[in-house]
Order: sequence, then C-alpha cells, then structure tokens
Amino acid sequence: MADRPKILVTQKVPAAAYPILEAIGDVEANMEEGVIWPYEELLRRGPGHDYIYSLLTDTIDARFLEACAAASPRLKMVANMAVGFNNIDVQTATRLGIAVSNTPGVLSDTTADLAFALLMATARRIPEAERFLRAGKYTGWGPLLFCGTDVHGATLGLIGAGRIGKLVAKRASGFDMKVLYYDVYRMSPEEERQYNVTYMPMDEILQQADFISIHTPYMPSTHHLIGERELGMMKPTAILINTARGPIVDEKALVKALQNGTIAAAGLDVFENEPAVEPELLSMENVVLLPHIASASLRTRTLMATMAAENIAAFHNGQTPPNILNPEVLKK
Ligand code: DGY
Repeated sequence: MADRPKILVTQKVPAAAYPILEAIGDVEANMEEGVIWPYEELLRRGPGHDYIYSLLTDTIDARFLEACAAASPRLKMVANMAVGFNNIDVQTATRLGIAVSNTPGVLSDTTADLAFALLMATARRIPEAERFLRAGKYTGWGPLLFCGTDVHGATLGLIGAGRIGKLVAKRASGFDMKVLYYDVYRMSPEEERQYNVTYMPMDEILQQADFISIHTPYMPSTHHLIGERELGMMKPTAILINTARGPIVDEKALVKALQNGTIAAAGLDVFENEPAVEPELLSMENVVLLPHIASASLRTRTLMATMAAENIAAFHNGQTPPNILNPEVLKK
C-alpha cells in the first residue's frame, strides 16, 4: 500500500466526502468544525501531499504551490470546494503542472435563492423589524411601522449573468420585475427571451435599477467594480445586493454611500476582507449582513463536498476531473 496517495482536507466538510477520498488514499483532515488553519499552518501542513482538498478560506498562492511542488510526494491537484477559485493562483498551478478544480453548477439555485432572500430581507427591512420586536419595542400595528421598498414590479439590475445571475432573473420574473443585465458575455437572443432580461451597459443599469445584484466572479478586472463612481450613479432609493465576492465592491466607498444617502440600503453576504466587516456597517440599520452563507443548504454543501472529492478520485483514476480549470496540465 506504499503508493497510496496522501490527501489533505483543510476544513471539516460534509461527511459524504471522506469515504470517496479514503477509498483512494490516506486522508489527513482538519476535523475541528469552524477552525480555519492560518496561512502559516497551511504552509507547514500542505507540502508532502498528493492532493489538497481546499476551501475558499485557504490562500493557495505561488509560495504555497511552489513549496508543495518541491516536496515529496509532489502536489498533483488542488480541488476547491467552491465555485469561486480566486483563493487559488491557477496560473502558477498551471505553470507547475498542478491541476485545479472547482464545484460549479450544484450551488447555483441555492445561491440564487439566498440572493433573492437577501434582496427581499433588505427591501422589506425584515432583520431590522425582527430586532425591534425581540427588543420588546412592538407596542401595536402602525401605518408607518417598517415601511420598506416594494420588490414586485421593481427594476432589478444584474451585474454578471452567468449561471447564478440567470437563476436570480428567473426568480425575479415571478415578482414581475423588469430585469436588466450586464455581463462581458452577452446572452443569445433566445436566452434573453428565456430569462426575460434586457442587456444594457453597466452605467445605464446602475442609473435605472431599483436593485443591483452582483453575480460576477472576482478577478483583477472586477476588483472594486462597484466603487464611489458607480454608487454615485445609483438611485438614492436603490439597494445593493452582493452574494458574489466582497472585493468586487469598494466596502469603504459603500459605507460612505450608505451614510450619505447616496443609496438606500445594502444586503451583503460577502465582505472585502472576510471575515472582517467594515465596523460602521455593523451599526447601520439599513444593511443586512450575512456570514457568506449563499450556498449553505445541507443538500448543496453535500453536493459540493462530494463533487470536490470526485474530482480528486477522477484524477487519481487517470480520468479527466470533470471540473478541472486548467486541463492543459493533463497534457504535460
Ligand atoms: C463559492 O462556492 O464560491 C461560494 O462563495 C461558497 O459556496
């Protein structure tokens, strides 16, 4: 059994993933729920594994990858249990011949559900109203009590309309919303009809929409895509929803925009320096803040967990991992 591969799982994941990994190799796993290994610990533990099963909280950068590529056994693959892979330096991995995979598709509906829930919670001030009630402040029905913003019939602007953005559009159509979208890839006319969406340049969407919901991946070109200028173009009544990645929004500029009434409210599932949150946001009533839970249904997290494990198993069995991001490494 000398050639059983060594597999490192960096956080506790849904149980269904482990048997898939244990069937092919020796698994070393962080089993302490909620414990995220700091970078230095990851750097200490990672080298000497054939496969790393990573989470979006792991910084898999050039230094880490080079250390893993220089060790024995040499790292063959990083399987991220997330659709986003901005935590991994894929370019360096490719240069070093290390395969990288992600978990697309299985989380799209669950993420779209949460994006829409966050939009509704922010528009209708649900967490704020619940805090009020729990604090014993509810003394009776009031005509002005917690009046919010209507969702039905409003205009939704999607910044990014890939798998998840499209599913948010689908939900919006049930609320008779007008849906505008901007994406670097324009949909075909058939798809635009199917999702009942209208393509527009981003600046026009920012000016027209009552809700802006972000669904782009995070990469250098989307860093601070929504900053002071873009927030300044939005309606003072508009609401910003971000379930994609924190650094797509300039969080300091957002704080200012919320403080000055440049926009009305924000619903955020992701933050620029996660898990840190701009302190001012914590005391604002017009923001709804969630701890990055968009894909967090047990079913979906289990699907993501097994998908990441199956990518490793496929590689080990000499097959093309179904969700490989850099298939060129297989040709080397
Ligand atoms: C992802 O998969 O990228 C999400 O942010 C977490 O599910």
